Parts: sequence; C-alpha cells; structure tokens
Amino acid sequence: MNKPWAGRFKEKTEKIVEDFTSSIAFDVRLWKYDIEGSIAHAKMLGRQKIISKKDMNLIIRGLGDIYEEIEAGRFRFKDGLEDIHMNIEHALIKKVGPAGGKLHTARSRNDQVALDVRLYLRDEIHEILKLIINFRRVLVSIAKKHINTVMPGYTHLQRAQPVLLSHHFLAYHEMLGRDMERVRDCLKRVNVLPLGAAALAGTTLPINRNYVAKLLKFPEVSENSMDSVSDRDFIAEFIAASSITMGHLSRLSEELILWSSEEFGFIELPEAFATGSSIMPQKKNPDIPELVRGKTGRVVGNLMAIFTVMKGLPLAYNRDMQEDKEPLFDTVDTVKACISVLSAMLPRIRFRKKVMAEAVESGFMTATDVAEYLVKKGMPFREAHGVTGAIVRYCIENKKDITDMTVSEFQDYSDYFKKDIVNHITVQASLEGKKSQGSTSGKMVSSRIRNISNRKG
Ligand code: ARG
Repeated sequence: MNKPWAGRFKEKTEKIVEDFTSSIAFDVRLWKYDIEGSIAHAKMLGRQKIISKKDMNLIIRGLGDIYEEIEAGRFRFKDGLEDIHMNIEHALIKKVGPAGGKLHTARSRNDQVALDVRLYLRDEIHEILKLIINFRRVLVSIAKKHINTVMPGYTHLQRAQPVLLSHHFLAYHEMLGRDMERVRDCLKRVNVLPLGAAALAGTTLPINRNYVAKLLKFPEVSENSMDSVSDRDFIAEFIAASSITMGHLSRLSEELILWSSEEFGFIELPEAFATGSSIMPQKKNPDIPELVRGKTGRVVGNLMAIFTVMKGLPLAYNRDMQEDKEPLFDTVDTVKACISVLSAMLPRIRFRKKVMAEAVESGFMTATDVAEYLVKKGMPFREAHGVTGAIVRYCIENKKDITDMTVSEFQDYSDYFKKDIVNHITVQASLEGKKSQGSTSGKMVSSRIRNISNRKG
C-alpha cells in the first residue's frame, strides 16, 4: 500500500513496524470529527482560492460518501495506513482522484489530530455534563424523599452526630456541582482551534483560520503554531477533572458497600444491580459500587499516563503523543459508564430507616449538643467539653445513655444544667437545633433543596 509519506523512502515498511506504529485500532473513533474537520478545511481552501471550487466540491462530496460508508459499516480500515487520518485521505484520493490529493494542502497530521481530539472531547464533555445533571437530579430526589430520615453522621468512621440522610446525599450533589464547573472550565481550553498550525511553523499559503473556526464553532483560534501541535494540557486537565469526579463516585460507592453489609444494614441494594457468588449461595454482592470504586484506579492511572507521556517532550509534535488517546478514550468511557450505572441504581436502593434510626440512639451522639447547651448557659466551651466528657464516662460506667440521665444527675456535674436540659439531648432536638448555614437541620436542608429546585443552587 502506498503511504502518503512514501516519497522519500526506498524501502518498504516492515510489517512489525506497521503493527507497532498503527493507531487505527483506537483512533478510528475519531472518524466523524476527522471528516468534519476536513470538510471545513476544504471549504476554507476553496474560499481562499488555494484550490479550485471544482476540486473543493469533489473533496466535499467524496468525504460525504466516505462518511456514509463508515456509518453503514462498509468502509475497510487498513492497518498499513497507520491512522484514521491516512485511512480517510487514502480513500478520498481513490474515490475522487488527484483532487483528493489537494485536501492536505496547508495541513499536517499534527494539527489535524489536535483538531480531531478537541472536536471529539468537546462533544463528550457535553455528554458527560448531561449525565452529571441527571445524576444530581437523582441525588436531589433521594434527598427530598428522605428529609425525615435520620442516620448517624461519622468521623473516623465512628458515630459522631445525628444527620439527615438528605444532608448526606446533598453532600454528593455539591461535589458533583464542582465537578461540573471543572469540566465546563476545561471546555474553554478544549474549544480552541489548532488547525492551521500545519506541521509546527504555520504555512506560506494564504489560509484563513478564523473562517475554519467559524465553520467548526470554535470561539478561539490558537495563538502559537508550535504550542498548537504540542499542547495536550486540555487532555490532562480533562482526565484530572475526571479523576476528581471518579473520586467522588468512589467514595459514594464505598459508603453503599459499607451500608449494604450485614454489619451496617442501612440499605438493601436492588437485586437487579447485585450479583451472587458462584460458591456461597447466600451471597448478594455489591459489585456495581465495587467496580465503580475499582475503575477509579483506572482513571487515576490514565492521569499518570498522560503526565508521564508529556513530561519530557521537546517541542513540537512527537510521536509519543499518539499515546494520549487511549487514556483519554478510556477515561471518557469509564466516567460515562460509572455515572450512568449509579444514576440507574440509586433510585432503587431501599433505605432501612429503622436500622438507621436505631444506630443514632446509642453512642452518645448528642454529647456535643450537651456541651453547646452549657456554652449557651455561659460556660466556656473547653470547660463544657470536659464536663460533658465526664458525663459520658459516667454513662459508660453505669451502662446508660445520655437520654437516660435525670436532671439531678446532670446537675451533679454542673450548676449550669437546668430542667430544660432534657429537651436538648434527644436526636430530634439535636437535628432541629442546628442553626448554622449549611447544617443538617430539616429547615436548612429543605431550604437547600428549594434553592436547588429553583436553580439557585
Ligand atoms: N496518529 C498520530 C497521532 O495520533 C497522528 C499524527 C501523526 N503525525 C506524524 N507526524 N507522524 O499522534
């Protein structure tokens, strides 16, 4: 097969070299963007009279035919043609003759591949944003449903203070909100046209980059041809943002795994989203959240891969950069799959409200509220902390809970305790008593849900 670059070569490429250098197996996924970019480039060449209108039309028609063939699965991709760019260009020349050979005027695969990846990622970012929006809706609907469901809040995985299940799920809503901001911000830097940089130095031909940018809906044109063909920051940024998102999904998954265990028993996973064991008949395993947690490792690994590929590269393009695509594609696929599967699973989880409520009843979870009661009566917090600590020790030694304490027992520890202390030690009082903005009281959480629903949040 005659390679577009065969001119200066006498020897035929070794098969082992073709196999080693070929990227068609994975960059085939860029085909739509490659054609879209080539059509815009051809229109510009025609408009600038770099090629004739006739040749321009032949090229555009030829590319249209190739589009249809690929879409219908009738196109035969060839390994020997290295990548998606050469496969399509080769097919075009075969189809429309010498006019096809004019498409690559004032262009290099270096700026072409940078363009294709940006077009691809721009589309995928929009898809991911839609998925996150839907996921956040799911989180809010759970929060709405469980505005009265009480559970232990944890620090160090030790029962700490009572919280609302709503509040817990809305925490993830906040995280995913920041994730959206991060990818939207990344999109600004993805959305820059690199085409026109040619190999690295620009071109002597009178191209019009702004026209191409307009056709492809890029709000900006890159400023430096060397940077245009060697910049992969936008990929690193996207994978970094995705790693953070995966981190969030992984933490949620970890909680679902813990909560569905016999030990916690807070939730029951839908059978349709669990799997069994091939040896232990009683098992129902939380494989979905486990895999989300595991796949987080892949995405973080992809981030390390792109950093490591890029870190020592001299300007401008180097073939190493072909290694940017698999980590990027894998990240896109993984993030989309994980958000989708969790969005489908969450609404079907059954929350065992009673078990959660019981877990709040023990463990001195309102001890902090007792200390804050003393503060409200005028005691310095450090002293209040000490007094309450002593009460907790007394309860442990006498096998009772704070709620079992009588007023006079409290008063043995401090004169600051009045009769109303008994109104401050229940779980309900602890929750309702929270006044600070962003706290877990029903009032605060409901107001947050209202703001989110009114799109202020
Ligand atoms: N397949 C290559 C890549 O993904 C396309 C660019 C090739 N450029 C070159 N000068 N060999 O990076």
